[in-house]
Amino acid sequence: MKLTTQAEVDLSEFFDGHPVATFAINREHVITHWNRACEQLLGWTRACMVGTRNQWQPFYTKERPLLSDLLVSGEDNIGAHYPGQTRRSTLIPGAYESEDFFPNIGASGHWLHFTAAPLRDAEGNLVGAIETLRDVTERRVAENALRKSRDSLEHIVEKRTAQLAQANDKLEDDIRQLTELNDMLTTAQQQLVQSEKMASIGQLAAGVAHEINNPIGYIFSNVGTLQNYLEQLFGMLDAYQQAEASIAQPAVTVQLRAMREQIDLDFLRQDIPALMRESREGIVRVRHIVEDLKDFSRADAGQQWTRANLHQGIDSTLNIVANEVKYRADVVKAYGEIPEIECLPLQINQVVLNLVINAAQAMGTERGLITLRTGMADPHTVKLEVEDSGPGIPPEALSRIFDPFFTTKAVGKGTGLGLSLAYGIVKKHGGRIEVDTEPGRGSCFRVLLPIRHTEVAA
Ligand SMILES: Nc1ncnc2c1ncn2[C@@H]1O[C@H](COP(=O)(O)OP(=O)(O)O)[C@@H](O)[C@H]1O
Ligand SMILES: [Mg+2]
Repeated sequence: MKLTTQAEVDLSEFFDGHPVATFAINREHVITHWNRACEQLLGWTRACMVGTRNQWQPFYTKERPLLSDLLVSGEDNIGAHYPGQTRRSTLIPGAYESEDFFPNIGASGHWLHFTAAPLRDAEGNLVGAIETLRDVTERRVAENALRKSRDSLEHIVEKRTAQLAQANDKLEDDIRQLTELNDMLTTAQQQLVQSEKMASIGQLAAGVAHEINNPIGYIFSNVGTLQNYLEQLFGMLDAYQQAEASIAQPAVTVQLRAMREQIDLDFLRQDIPALMRESREGIVRVRHIVEDLKDFSRADAGQQWTRANLHQGIDSTLNIVANEVKYRADVVKAYGEIPEIECLPLQINQVVLNLVINAAQAMGTERGLITLRTGMADPHTVKLEVEDSGPGIPPEALSRIFDPFFTTKAVGKGTGLGLSLAYGIVKKHGGRIEVDTEPGRGSCFRVLLPIRHTEVAA
């Protein structure tokens, strides 16, 4: 390599004054140039470096080739020496650039971006290589800081997201608990409304029963006395009739016969006892109804767990609802053998009442049939079925019939509370209600009640 003197001077000055740290090596890897910026950046003077092959010294603790050395030795796989960060320069043909951290430079090391380009003579032969070094520590530090803060931001976001998810879970849990509580409240409120209603109906019934009880009592006993008197009177009449033959005046006899025929005494003799019998039966029935009303309204008995005969309860309830039922359906009782059950009798009566009234109300214009069936479901459980020949329950309604306020009946006719109340009562008894229904075929409500009462968790 022989450059003109003029060019050499120019090049040296240009080299020296150039603000970017730059050095050059020849084909023998000997340093030919080492500018001032290079001295400043790397802390090694030109006097130390030029003419030596110690270009590695400012960078590494052990001898190894730099990018410019690799270019000079015609290394194929430059990337292998600076893995991951070396690439071909997009500006200068045959040049490479790379970036790395050098802990030995300065007090705490420096990030350098370095570019090495081949030097060629006029014929294009390789004569050496030139390498520039840019200090990118600030940028890298800023990048690192940025990356760190981004990482920590991501971490915070992750943490916050997890916390939010947790809070969300907790919220969902709270909402679920609140919903449950609300449901419980609704049920309690319904039962309160209903028991309030039942209490006032009960009071009314008790009052009416009490009022009727007295007059019925003396009518009943008077009818008994009256029957006695009548028997005596008829005896007396018989005696008179027998004495008739011995009456001397024919006019009197004729008059008596005329009167007897006019009032049809023979008919009266037959009819009066029949009338008396019917009246007595009527009064007996009224007494029954009064008894049932009293039973039904005896709130105190209804509030205590007692052993009760289910059949008696059904019977008295049927009497209460007779009016509601008798024009719509015939009632068939198919009672099985069942023991007394431990229950709140008034409330069980109410379940029966609600089911029977629903069955009656389900009937269309045609007279239907309601069957009340009892029996054992298993050794510990009694079953009571109220079956009707009504229209059945369509599937879309079936899932909702136990919901409070669900009704398909006209305003004022249905409250939609009957089944929900029945459900609540049966549940309180530790039992359950099942429904079999088929549109057009009727419905069967089956109440299953344990014989023994065990406290059900509230
Ligand atoms: N035996 C039955 N046959 C047909 N539908 C019934 C029967 N029992 C109940 N239902 C349906 O269930 C609904 C809810 O009944 P219920 O809770 O007693 O309220 P309500 O009788 O006041 O409507 C009724 O409106 C009716 O649609
Ligand atoms: Mg009802």
